Amino acid sequence: METGKYQSVLEKFRKYVMPTYAPKLLIEKGRGAWVWDSEERRYLDFAVGISVSNLGHCHPAVTAAIRKQAEKLVHVSNLYMTENQPLLAEKLINHCFDGVVFFANSGAESNEGMIKFARKWGSDKGRFEIISMEDSFHGRTLATLSATGRSKYRKGFAPDMPGFKQVPFNDVEALKAAIDDKTAAVLLEPVQGEGGIVPSCPEYLKEVRKICDEKGILLLFDEVQCGMGRTGKFFAFQSYGVEPDAVSMAKALGNGFPIGAFIVKRKWADTLAVGTHASTFGGTPLACAAASAVIDVIDSEKLLDNCVRMGEYLMAELGKLAEKYAFIVKVRGRGLMLGVVFDRPAGEFLPLLQENGMLALTAGENVLRLMPPLNITREEADTALRIMDRTFSEFSEKNK
Ligand SMILES: Cc1ncc(COP(=O)(O)O)c(C=O)c1O
Repeated sequence: METGKYQSVLEKFRKYVMPTYAPKLLIEKGRGAWVWDSEERRYLDFAVGISVSNLGHCHPAVTAAIRKQAEKLVHVSNLYMTENQPLLAEKLINHCFDGVVFFANSGAESNEGMIKFARKWGSDKGRFEIISMEDSFHGRTLATLSATGRSKYRKGFAPDMPGFKQVPFNDVEALKAAIDDKTAAVLLEPVQGEGGIVPSCPEYLKEVRKICDEKGILLLFDEVQCGMGRTGKFFAFQSYGVEPDAVSMAKALGNGFPIGAFIVKRKWADTLAVGTHASTFGGTPLACAAASAVIDVIDSEKLLDNCVRMGEYLMAELGKLAEKYAFIVKVRGRGLMLGVVFDRPAGEFLPLLQENGMLALTAGENVLRLMPPLNITREEADTALRIMDRTFSEFSEKNK
């Protein structure tokens, strides 16, 4: 009986799984923009694993690619070549800038590698420090945590790794003042995700590039969340006309199959030479088959166009909700990386939305984060808008 199943999974979860998460919903299957729980209730998924299943759940082309590759070869060491890895690297380069790719398994591991790249680059110049941004998020390993500006994530894990400092985001003068002869690189998310869906100001990003060039230091972009088409370009930086020296990605790269990567410009291709960095599971034939299929789908289904179109539509319609409900301060974002800013903690709305059949996320304290699949239809967007309208209206009634 389904409720019995929920209870027994919950009991096992509480007894045997380390309580770093506190999930309440038991999800059993997903298809496109929808997931179903253990009681066969369906939810419109505007979280997609925090921008992971950007093609929707169980996209048939990705499932087929995984199935086909799993029957042929799942893993061999990177001491050997497999066909899929350079094929995927070429596809990524064709969507980025000319350079070389290192494959990893997660966002944190990709950023960790990118930080190591910057330190290696700076090692003969006495430069090792990474300047990142307040309110940024770069992962949970010790180095990426030290780069992370959201200090609540660092609490209890002192001391921070040496060689990191943060400055306010979108503040040119603060950045200039922080750079010294120890600085190796500036690291930032072109659109901050966890920090509250905060896009870089276009002039700021251009200025940061100029400063890095003048000072002879590297510019690193973390596109783990905002990359892979989420903002309407393959990489968010492409809409700013500013190229970094290296960029990291993960999350949506495998549409749910774990894979991460970072790309460095060709002029820095030899910085991490043989033996300097490695990962047992980085770029397995299976992971690369999945990611390769993801890129093909983004191209063949013209998902970037849909992302821009639906992003503009949702932004406009959410703007109308902001006029209707006084507790909505504003709506911001790029493409389908949208934030609804409230005058109160956004977490209050998540259970209510879930009750009405929609999954979403928070970002920062007061921001409701909406990240539907890039192939969301107009009908699904309208369903989400109706659910949000109903939820906000019920909330108003209760809080009169
Ligand atoms: C911008 C950014 N960087 C890095 C990470 C860490 O990725 P992972 O959880 O795959 O290690 C995240 C995860 O939310 C992220 O949003």
